[in-house]
Amino acid sequence: MIEKVDHIGIAVRSLEESIPLYEKALGLTFLKTEEVESQKVKTAFFEAGETHIELLEPTAEDSPIAKFIEKNGEGIHHIAFGTDDITGQLSLASSNGVRLIHEEPMIGAGGKEVAFLHPKSTRGVLTELCSH
Ligand code: CO
Repeated sequence: MIEKVDHIGIAVRSLEESIPLYEKALGLTFLKTEEVESQKVKTAFFEAGETHIELLEPTAEDSPIAKFIEKNGEGIHHIAFGTDDITGQLSLASSNGVRLIHEEPMIGAGGKEVAFLHPKSTRGVLTELCSH
């Protein structure tokens, strides 16, 4: 079951320059930064009620986030749904014709299990499923 929009991922060139926008100009509570080496990104998390905002800064030129920014500029990168059953959600999506980027969940930011659905199958929206 999908429980909520867990977070919205936003691609930025610089966390240092972007954190003040969310923390000071919007007044969201800053939670933490974390580097996810497997994804070649540094992340910063903010609290927005039950949902979080995840800023993503590339740490290498071949980072998927670097490629995204090169193509689209900064902006919304993905939407993440929190679920109590990531494997079940993956097979539900797959059996309904959605192309999966990850057949099996992997470990992402915050030690959560995550898996992505292909944006070509989801109306152009890169969609993440994540556990708690
Ligand atoms: Co995410």
